[in-house]
Amino acid sequence: MEDYKHPAEPFRIKSIESIALRTREEREQILKEAKYNIFKIKAEDIYIDLLTDSGTGAMSTTQWAALMLGDESYAGARSFYRFENIVKGITSKKHIIPTHQGRVAENVFFSTVLKRGDYIPNNTHFDTTRANASHKGGIPVDFPCPEAAIADELPFKGNMDTRRLESFINEKGADKIPVVFMTVTNNSMGGQPVSMANIKETAAICKKYGIMFFFDCARYAENCYFIKHYEPGYESKTIKKIAQEMFSYSDGALMSAKKDGLANMGGFAAVNDDDLAQRMIELLIIIEGFPTYGGMSGRDMDTVAVGLAEALNEDYLAYRIGQIEYFGKIIERAGAPIIKPTGGHAIFIDAGKFLPHIPSEEFPGQALAVELYKEGGIRGVEIGSLMFGGYDPVTGEKITALRELVRLAVPRRMYTGSHLDYVAEIVGKIAKKKGELGGLKITRQSSYLRHFTVELEKLAMNRIGIV
Ligand code: F0G
Repeated sequence: MEDYKHPAEPFRIKSIESIALRTREEREQILKEAKYNIFKIKAEDIYIDLLTDSGTGAMSTTQWAALMLGDESYAGARSFYRFENIVKGITSKKHIIPTHQGRVAENVFFSTVLKRGDYIPNNTHFDTTRANASHKGGIPVDFPCPEAAIADELPFKGNMDTRRLESFINEKGADKIPVVFMTVTNNSMGGQPVSMANIKETAAICKKYGIMFFFDCARYAENCYFIKHYEPGYESKTIKKIAQEMFSYSDGALMSAKKDGLANMGGFAAVNDDDLAQRMIELLIIIEGFPTYGGMSGRDMDTVAVGLAEALNEDYLAYRIGQIEYFGKIIERAGAPIIKPTGGHAIFIDAGKFLPHIPSEEFPGQALAVELYKEGGIRGVEIGSLMFGGYDPVTGEKITALRELVRLAVPRRMYTGSHLDYVAEIVGKIAKKKGELGGLKITRQSSYLRHFTVELEKLAMNRIGIV
């Protein structure tokens, strides 16, 4: 059997946080009480928490030190200028608007630019982006590249389908499309990266039709690492130079700094247009805070400023991407099919393939997520029909997810190789008895982002007689 190596961590541990594994009986009871919604389980009842890589990572000693420098002045805090300076250095945008997390940047931006019935194309919307766009009367549309749907290990499966994008613009008219988004890396498509060539092509189409081009850049540093290693011409450029080139093609960006900002909280919008910035800031003051803190404390802005710089470090990124690659290999070896190649922040188990006897309507992804907790105290998240399916809150149309996935997201600089080995061991146990797993049924749900609050019950196994 092939021996895979976890990359050596480019850090040592200075402070630890204890974790404990509840007994099987306790875990079964906890699941029942949480109505089989993994979001409702208390963190202290989780052994390995792979729910998200968002705001969950470990900060460096430099970040903790920067926290003490936080200037908590209401207006014009030094922390803001340190934060603004680093964001400008990376994005080269004129206006940096701080927000306490990514979805507020989305809210402020979409509230400002959208008219009812406008379309917002994206390589693939993340769920909060999709919800914010439709909540403000927009119609989010996804154009993932055709390669995203095939099994081959191609390097840039996060790309935009630029042909479909252009024909969509021609069909609907550019006046119905105020902005095109590019999500880097493409979270909902397996954390797959987008190539610089695809970014340039998309930007050129937007320019041709006079449409703004924006990044949803939560994981842009990871994306730039992939460009450096898999796209000819970028081998000898620094990650920062690649990032600067990437942002130079855009009119702006929205960022959740809880990912590649290596911080527990934070975000921003970066825009060039003066008038747009002004209108966004007016709304920001109402819903978030004064423009030099926007919902963050001074110390948050300082940790983000340091984190943004640290995330561009190549030793760190080599470890980060190498860790995810290792994780993918050991999960696959344990018997679960995954989306390949592995992306930047998570591995995605293809639960549709893993549990073919559970139909989409019975949420095979959620069935696997529940089993991971039951078997090993592990928390992952379903990204399939529970998250994306159901009915469009605006049009009422039935929506089906492209794939039934379970995401195991890896918090940055937090878990060691042996934690991941444990997860693979549990996946191996589940693989041996996967035919015994049954599906789930929704008993309560909301119209937007239903997966956060949904309640479910277990369906009897063998219900459809295939198992
Ligand atoms: N855009 C992308 C691509 C994201 O992955 C997220 C969050 C957001 C925007 C929203 O940012 O959470 O700071 O408001 N993703 C997290 C996740 C929640 O688990 O993937 P936020």
